[in-house]
Amino acid sequence: MTDADERTRAIEGDVLDRLARVIDPELGRSVTDLGMITGVKARPSKDHPDEVDLTVHVELTIAGCPLSRTITDQITGAVASYPGAHLTPHIEVSTMSADKLADLVASLKAERRRNPFTKDTSRTRIFAIASGKGGVGKSSVTANLAATLAALGYNTAVIDADIYGFSQPTLFGVHQQPTNVDGMLMPVVAWGVKLISIGMFAGSERAILWRGPRLQRSLDQFLSDVWWGEPDVLLLDMAPGTGDMAISVAQALPNAELVIVTTPQIGASQVAVRAGLVALQVPMRVCGVVENMSWFEHRGERLRIFGEGGGRRVSEQLTTALGVDVPLLAQLPLETDIREIGESGRPVVLDQSGALADTPLASEFASLARRLMGC
Ligand SMILES: Nc1ncnc2c1ncn2[C@@H]1O[C@H](COP(=O)(O)OP(=O)(O)O)[C@@H](O)[C@H]1O
Ligand SMILES: [Mg+2]
Repeated sequence: MTDADERTRAIEGDVLDRLARVIDPELGRSVTDLGMITGVKARPSKDHPDEVDLTVHVELTIAGCPLSRTITDQITGAVASYPGAHLTPHIEVSTMSADKLADLVASLKAERRRNPFTKDTSRTRIFAIASGKGGVGKSSVTANLAATLAALGYNTAVIDADIYGFSQPTLFGVHQQPTNVDGMLMPVVAWGVKLISIGMFAGSERAILWRGPRLQRSLDQFLSDVWWGEPDVLLLDMAPGTGDMAISVAQALPNAELVIVTTPQIGASQVAVRAGLVALQVPMRVCGVVENMSWFEHRGERLRIFGEGGGRRVSEQLTTALGVDVPLLAQLPLETDIREIGESGRPVVLDQSGALADTPLASEFASLARRLMGC
């Protein structure tokens, strides 16, 4: 081997090492592990002898994968920052053969088993965000809490378990469908959060399948048909009511813990207590209570539009009924931005760049997030 050959072999090896750190954003695995890199070839450039032409062959899992650009950009980045030599990357993209893809999916499925969150070794904290009534802010709290957790560095997932009244796709500004890799769905990643919602399937054949008698099984399907990887935290945005879904959650996710959302109003708090009492029927821990729409700040004054005391009342009554401490974890203000920016598709706790905003509300969510993860 000539010196030049040795140098190009060394570069190929180094580049492969670097590509092992490029993670497929959907599968959460390195592109080399997934067999997506099928060749790396370095050659001294004909025109510039001190430069090296580097060709990387990439096989995507499916043709026209929406993230192919992200993947190729990351590969280009990993190559471009190579120290000690000037590499000119040529990325050649093709698609895996049907057989190779089937093998890959089979091996991922085998490893995933059915519901990844029931494994004893699962370290995922699971919080079901529930209330008795609709309209108290479960979905807004879920979206902002998830965005905060992700911004704090937690690998965060959300299941929109409100099958009829889904709102997470709107709150996260998601318009695309989950990618279907040979029968396994990839959650859509928005604002750093992995998200799945029945709202993403509207109009597709799959929606018809999901709206049929299998609707009751939707949670099971969300858990077993979706590739979740190993998130640090999973939030479930629950439907209003105290009923069946809570019981399905307890069965499918024995580690799930409840967070009860209420407004300061007596009426809302009474129903919220009932939502928490589900923990008497099923073994589910109740982590605490979040009071939403606690006040509206007007010229420095806190106006208690919906009255006062609902959160504290729910916390006290559940503490007594369940015989364990159910703390009031947070009180959140009524702010038009929560609705307006939320409806525009960005959780209001984030600024436009996706970082945690420098606002009192974002700090409030950050302390709620830390409290939940620490408890
Ligand atoms: N703290 C808040 N300040 C202002 N508007 C809010 C707040 N929390 C929720 N909302 C708005 O109230 C409505 C109901 O909230 P949502 O999160 O959908 O409740 P739920 O999921 O409990 O039905 C939505 O329009 C939402 O934007
Ligand atoms: Mg909702």
